[in-house]
Amino acid sequence: MTPGKPIYLDYNATTPCDPRIVQAMMPYFTEIYGNPSNGLHSLGRAAHYAVDTARQKVAELIGANSGEIIFTSGATESNHLAILGTTYYASESRRKIIASSIEHKAVLEPCKRLVEQGFDLVVAPVTPDGVVDLDFLYQAIDENTFLISVQLANNEIGTIQPIEEVARLARHKGALLHCDAAQAVGKIPVDVSKINPDLLSFSSHKIYGPKGIGALYIRGRSIPIYPLLVGGGQEFGLRAGSLNVPAIVGFGMACEIAKDEMVEESTRLGSYQSYLEASLIDSVSGLRINGYRAPRLPNTTNMTLPNVEADVFLLNLPNLMMSTGAACNTGAVEPSHVLQAIGLSRDQASRSVRVCTGRFTSKEEIIEALDQIYGFFEVKFS
Ligand SMILES: Cc1ncc(COP(=O)(O)O)c(C=O)c1O
Repeated sequence: MTPGKPIYLDYNATTPCDPRIVQAMMPYFTEIYGNPSNGLHSLGRAAHYAVDTARQKVAELIGANSGEIIFTSGATESNHLAILGTTYYASESRRKIIASSIEHKAVLEPCKRLVEQGFDLVVAPVTPDGVVDLDFLYQAIDENTFLISVQLANNEIGTIQPIEEVARLARHKGALLHCDAAQAVGKIPVDVSKINPDLLSFSSHKIYGPKGIGALYIRGRSIPIYPLLVGGGQEFGLRAGSLNVPAIVGFGMACEIAKDEMVEESTRLGSYQSYLEASLIDSVSGLRINGYRAPRLPNTTNMTLPNVEADVFLLNLPNLMMSTGAACNTGAVEPSHVLQAIGLSRDQASRSVRVCTGRFTSKEEIIEALDQIYGFFEVKFS
């Protein structure tokens, strides 16, 4: 590793494109540029074949059939299509929707739209370790519930949710289950036939593919969905618009690589996580790891620092690219709703930092990052 080179520790925000993926995409910009909707000439057919092949690879990563995959612009759009598209068909007697309190805003905001349309939104709490409260869900899911949305893994603290159990509760009461798996797919094994969601969202740029492309899995493609975009009838009539073929090819390749390399990669990142967390707990007194006792993604560590604001910490460590537990919403800095949902005070949330590793993180970088963090605390507290 080059001395002084910035260390990227923000892989949950986005990942760099894997060079193998960029290479696979290139011909689809300048050579195989046909519109896959046009099967009347060879360039259109070649593009169509590339999309079909990518759809198969995307489906394989999550144990689905290719006909169950709809390409979208990313997990935000997939969440919107799942939540707003299905509830369009909700009957008068099923107007309750349930979402966990640690969902991404791309789930919570469309749910709020539904409240404006007369739906009843129930926000399910999580335990202090960041796992959705199953007892609460058991009580809350009833015959009036149309849709439940619970993520598979949390983007800020990395906790993994018991989706299989939630699916069982949902099915028992005839409700649909949507799962935002943007942070889980490609990092941990996801098999829809095991965890049983009706709908599952995921995204290419979290798994070393290009930005602006994602997918919605729709079980058996048998769930009525009102499309958000209409026009050319692409994606089985569920999402109109000319397909972004290079991005779809890249997403397919990202899924193929993830399938082949996930076990080795997550084992390696898990060992960095254990080393990083044990070292931090040992050396920085008063530091707390959020979600510590829950099943967690192997690449995510969220820590609350002793006596220092997260933004001050990050500004003093300009070579470590991490993120804070705050979001800048319309100019005002708001502590993360996820950290507040697990019981952190506003003050604790404002002292929280997320460290996320990924494919290109090395052990040397973890050691160097720890050195810099120790340096900061010695300067601050000695
Ligand atoms: C859990 C979760 N859902 C949804 C999204 C949005 O994904 P995209 O950027 O593909 O729209 C993200 C991205 O940060 C995420 O972490």
